[in-house]
Formats: sequence, C-alpha cells, structure tokens
Amino acid sequence: MSNDATPIAQRKADHIELCATGDVGFHQKTTLFNDVELIHDALPELSLDAVDTSVVLLDKRLRAPIIIAAMTGGTERAREINLALAQIAEERGYGFGLGSQRAMLVAEEKGATYSVRDVAPTTLVMGNIGAVQARSLPTEALAELSARVGADAMCIHLNPAMEIIQPGGDRDFEGIVATLERLARELPWPIVVKETGCGIGPSVALRLAKSGIRHIDVSGAGGTSWVAVETARADSEARPLGEAFREWGVPTAASVAIARRVRPRFKTIIATGGVGSGLDIAKALALGAHAAGIARPVLKAFVEGGKAGAVRFLQEVEAELRAAMLLVGARNVAAMRKAPFLAFGRLRRYLKLAKKLEST
Ligand SMILES: Cc1cc2nc3c(=O)[nH]c(=O)nc-3n(C[C@H](O)[C@H](O)[C@H](O)COP(=O)(O)O)c2cc1C
Repeated sequence: MSNDATPIAQRKADHIELCATGDVGFHQKTTLFNDVELIHDALPELSLDAVDTSVVLLDKRLRAPIIIAAMTGGTERAREINLALAQIAEERGYGFGLGSQRAMLVAEEKGATYSVRDVAPTTLVMGNIGAVQARSLPTEALAELSARVGADAMCIHLNPAMEIIQPGGDRDFEGIVATLERLARELPWPIVVKETGCGIGPSVALRLAKSGIRHIDVSGAGGTSWVAVETARADSEARPLGEAFREWGVPTAASVAIARRVRPRFKTIIATGGVGSGLDIAKALALGAHAAGIARPVLKAFVEGGKAGAVRFLQEVEAELRAAMLLVGARNVAAMRKAPFLAFGRLRRYLKLAKKLEST
C-alpha cells in the first residue's frame, strides 16, 4: 500500500481537490472589505516606483506584505505544491506557510514533503500544527517539528468549526489556552496563533493577548469556508450540521480591526481569509494588519496555470496594492497602516465592538 493511501493523506488529497475545483467559498458572508472605503488622494506627491511595499515580519524583511498561507504537506502532490509555491515566495520576497505537519508526527518520512529550504533559503517560512495536536506534544517535540523544516515561526491553528463537521474530527477543545500559554513561554521560536477561515472575535483576541501571544493570523470568514469543505466530504448524516454552519465566522476585516484594538498589543497581525486582490490587502493594512495571507486563490491559480499562473496572479495583486498605496498617498506600509478610511454597514458595528476592547 502506498503511503499516500493513509487516512491523513486521503484527507489532504480531498482538501486540495475540493479547494482547487469545488464550491467551497462562503455564499452570503463576505470579508467585509467591501464595507471599507479608502479615501482618494488626488495629490499623492509620489511616483509609483517610489512606493515601498516592503515590511519586516517576524524579523524577516518581505518585499511585499504577502504570505502564501498554510495549505499542505504529507503527500507527493503536496510536496510539489509546497516546492513550487515556496520557490515563488523566495523569488518574489513573500512569506510562506507550510500546511499542518501532523502527517510528520504519524510518519517521520513525510518530512520530505514539507522540505522547502533548498528552494527557499531566505524566505520567512512558517511551520504549522493544530492546537489540539500541540496540546498533547511536549514543547521539545514541537520545537523539533519546527526545526526539521527550518521554520522561522510556528503557526498553531485553531479550527473547531471545521473539526466538528469533519468525519472523525476532534471534538474536545479543552486546555487549548493553557497549551498556547506554555508554547508562547517555552518555544524558542515565535508562535503565530492562526484561525483557518472562521476568524478571531473580541473575546478570543483578548484571551490570546493576555496569554502572551504576540502574533496572530486572523484567517477570517468570507473566503474559503472550511465547514463547506468538510461538509462536501461528510456522509449524508453529518451534512445538515455542516450546511447550518457554512456561513459561520467573524469576517476578516472585522477580525483585523478587533485585533488592532487589543491590549497588550499584537506585534504581528496577518489578515488571511478571502483576500483576493491588492485592494483587499491595502484595506487590511489600513484596518491594522501588517501583512495579508492568501491560500485558495493561489492554489487555484497554480492548479489552473502552473507556476506561471500563480506568479501572474500574485503580480496582479502586487500591482493593485502598489496602485492603492499611491492613490491614498502612502509611501510605505507604515503610512498605509495609518491611511484614513470610512467604514460602513456591519463592519462599522464590529468597529464599535472593537473600540470597547480598549477599555478592557
Ligand atoms: C488546500 C488548503 C489547505 C489548508 N490547510 C491548512 C493547514 O494545514 N493549516 C492551516 O493552518 N490552515 C490551512 N488552510 C487554511 C488557510 O491557511 C486559510 O486560513 C484559509 O483557507 C482562508 O484563506 P483563503 O480564503 O485565502 O483560502 C488551508 C487552506 C487551503 C486552501
């Protein structure tokens, strides 16, 4: 039996297939970036070439505030995807997130499918493991998992909505805060607490900040619905539950605004979840993010057009970000994070909620 026929490998293969070609986006809920209006500057006093999109994230300088977000590992196809996307990250100066390294815990030889340092020697590379798996791992084992892939930081992902729909998924989420506190204290690498498409609300943001977490990826709602992905894989008995929660989550724009208000401050806020354009990234920065992550749109561009297709998509994203920065008169990312904007509709209500955090 091929090693790629294990249950984890099958799940990973399903995820790639469904995300590349399936109907797994949110249907009604959006990121709420459409509720943000950046204010046009007709006198930017800048040349387009002078706009500096670079940013220092987790102690590494990125040429643009873009992360190819955590997706895969554990199978031969995953290895190909990781290598190609990590190479793009290296060439273009983005960050790169590996998918969950759980497969490496089960079978050590799977480590090769996460090995990207040969093609991405200087890239910001982030390892990845679920909070539930991290709970049962000693800190040294987690440090080793990170060291084996040469990661600069370790993402610990939170995904309760997806797990309770997933056939055979985790059902017990107790003790996660204590696990995160322990890892923040003991792990010799920074940890990034990351959702997977349902976002971070006010109370979670506050608990994370008070637990010593300094870096988060909000991975909010409005892009890929992981409940939808798991519903597509579920048997007919589990499907109604999945359908009921397909639209569940805190929209990405709201999550970023919330994260910005929390004290003690996060050092890194990454906006992932439904980011599909440079304008989305500009809005995320204005709301308080330091960088944005993109997962499924990069995968789709890669599956449809190979490495060249993924590069083309990311070049367009960058060109749009640069244009948006010029058109609000922001010379660099720090200025973009201070750019004024109007907020409408549901986002405005979330901003009010977020404001209350300042007095908490
Ligand atoms: C094929 C695929 C696999 C994913 N696997 C992981 C994973 O292993 N760990 C993780 O933290 N997030 C994982 N994600 C979630 C993404 O990192 C991201 O948080 C989420 O998909 C929302 O971003 P998007 O709307 O750009 O897809 C995966 C996403 C995709 C598309």
